[in-house]
Amino acid sequence: MTATAARKILVTNALPYANAALHLGHILEYTQSDIFVRFQKMRGHECYYMSADDAHGTAIMLRADERGVSPEQHIAEMKAIHQADFVDFHIGVDNYHSTHSEENREFAELIYQRLHAAGYIAEREITQAYDPDKGLFLADRYIKGSCPKCRAPGQYGDNCEVCSATYAATDLIDPVSVLSGAVPVEKASTHFFFKLPAFADFLKQWTRSGTIADEVANKLAEWLDSGLQEWDISRDAPYFGFEIPNAPGKYFYVWLDAPIGYMAAFKNFCDRTGVDFEEYWRADSQAELHHFIGKDIVNFHALFWPAMLDASGFRTPTKVAVHGFVTVDGQKMSKSRGTFINARSYLDHLDPEYLRYYYAAKLTARVEDVDLNLEDFVQKVNSDLVGKVVNIASRCAKFIHLHGGQLSANLAEPELWQRASGAAERIADHYETLNYSKAMREIMALADQANEYIAAREPWKLNKDPANAAAVVDICSMGINLFRVIATYLKPVLPQMVARAEQFLGDTLNWQSASAPLHNHRIAEFVPLMQRVDPAAVAAMVAANAAPAEPAALPSGPLADQPLAAEIGFDEFMKVDLRVAKIVAAQAVEGADKLLQLTLDIGGEQRNVFSGIKSSYAPEQLVGRLTVLVANLAPRKMRFGLSEGMVLAAGDDHGIYLLAPDSGAEPGQRIT
Ligand code: MSP
Ligand code: ZN
Repeated sequence: MTATAARKILVTNALPYANAALHLGHILEYTQSDIFVRFQKMRGHECYYMSADDAHGTAIMLRADERGVSPEQHIAEMKAIHQADFVDFHIGVDNYHSTHSEENREFAELIYQRLHAAGYIAEREITQAYDPDKGLFLADRYIKGSCPKCRAPGQYGDNCEVCSATYAATDLIDPVSVLSGAVPVEKASTHFFFKLPAFADFLKQWTRSGTIADEVANKLAEWLDSGLQEWDISRDAPYFGFEIPNAPGKYFYVWLDAPIGYMAAFKNFCDRTGVDFEEYWRADSQAELHHFIGKDIVNFHALFWPAMLDASGFRTPTKVAVHGFVTVDGQKMSKSRGTFINARSYLDHLDPEYLRYYYAAKLTARVEDVDLNLEDFVQKVNSDLVGKVVNIASRCAKFIHLHGGQLSANLAEPELWQRASGAAERIADHYETLNYSKAMREIMALADQANEYIAAREPWKLNKDPANAAAVVDICSMGINLFRVIATYLKPVLPQMVARAEQFLGDTLNWQSASAPLHNHRIAEFVPLMQRVDPAAVAAMVAANAAPAEPAALPSGPLADQPLAAEIGFDEFMKVDLRVAKIVAAQAVEGADKLLQLTLDIGGEQRNVFSGIKSSYAPEQLVGRLTVLVANLAPRKMRFGLSEGMVLAAGDDHGIYLLAPDSGAEPGQRIT
């Protein structure tokens, strides 16, 4: 242990929304923060890890509605599901709370009232889109229509997926509410705003004070330099959240009380354990506060949140650690490819520690995306953990037990021991600075050296002659001691495997364990430490996730009403020329997130069509398939080329399903 005094460290991860199950993207973040916490605890620091469900907002209210249950029941069920996932991935939070809690209401009100008293809350009327059927104001993502620029249909209220134009929802052509199909109307209401621009100077300084990585600070500087906007912190009823004091019918926007949930979780914990809340949150606190978040929510944590804390007399975060996104096999996670992997489904098939190690081996302090390459995953876990680390222990333990089960009184190779033991502070530094990949590389290099040592000494050969017994025990004791140091270094990443190692070593490992070897120490019966990853289990997991996408691990209620379009006559229908089309080529479109470019054969004629089905289909899956083409749709000029018709698909947020005629249909046949 270094001479540094014990630190007080409070760690949080971003609170998962209570409207969906966790997936392997979430698990990256929670693994990253959990490793940090376990490391700090092993070093003897006072470290607390807080999390909670983020339970408020329109999406959660609508989800509960859809399921036909109350929001309270819905969030309670989701919380239990999330918590079980956390436990099973060995995410060792000290408290798992909810933003829909009394503590959170109190802190949200307190902070708001302080902001208000200090003159940081503005109040003014704004006009927004409103769904007259549902009686709800509509955020941009709940409005769809045709792009005002390229006229592509089915675009959301803020930007066009086809031509990338950005616009206001009010500019959409023929806008409809996604919730009811009604035409939105404009409606005015009073909103409350947090005067963020007043904190521009504070934030310019705060973001450059070692709190966030330079690459993130540079991004924020673009906003800070171009001028901050006041932040709309209120929403109108009906809304699932906290009502704003002295403002009936007005609620705190979910993102106002979400980060306050960090405080609420800790308050709830302190009230049960006697830990001093104030010591961690008062303005001049000497304790550290570390937030772990993904790159999509930086402005909330590095602009709004520190400004709110500063304005209301609380301490600001010590560090905001930002990670990139998980991709699977180099692609955004996709339901149709089975790579949108649900956390529970992973657990149904594979050991959580495989993934913890794989993520650790890939995580750096940078904001880069982390690719989960499934082939590499199998290969790396098997080669590093089973082939290198476990191998040291299993080879050596056997010979120690053959000769009485006791480690020798001396170190056979002091220099090699020194190298392993001497890596402790370097590896600690990698953990501290979130360069887990460097830590894993150093640890595996030590495992390689240990294996080379054992291979060179060949205890299995020496052991054939009973006269060599002492030498065999010396060599294998050396091996076990190297293994023990390696297990110490891996403990933050692999708590379960190391717990099994501790059992057979008869020792509890903390960071200090690496500084002195075990001598004359009796080891217990060897415990198998880790099984190889079975590639068949990985395949089964992918197959399970590719099955028709269940929106979430909850029973679904009645579908949101999708009112029928106005009635049309047969003649009008016959104006639409639908044809059987064969997909002869398909490819991704450079620069377009949702589009695939399809070449269609409609019987002697080929058509080029752009279709927004990329999230659900890989190009190679489509070639050779039959589908249905609206063949007489006027060609549309898109940024990427001319689209000559439209293929038919059913779809919503959960998946897209291309329509196809039964086999036997011929390209070019008319469909009536
Ligand atoms: N509820 C908000 C956070 C409030 S914090 C006061 C939220 N929830 S979330 O469920 O959408 O995301 C939770 C965390 O998971 C975020 O940090 C987000 O960046 C992270 N991830 C979500 N998808 C991810 C990947 N595909 N890859 C890595 N992290 C991802 O945002
Ligand atoms: Zn457009």
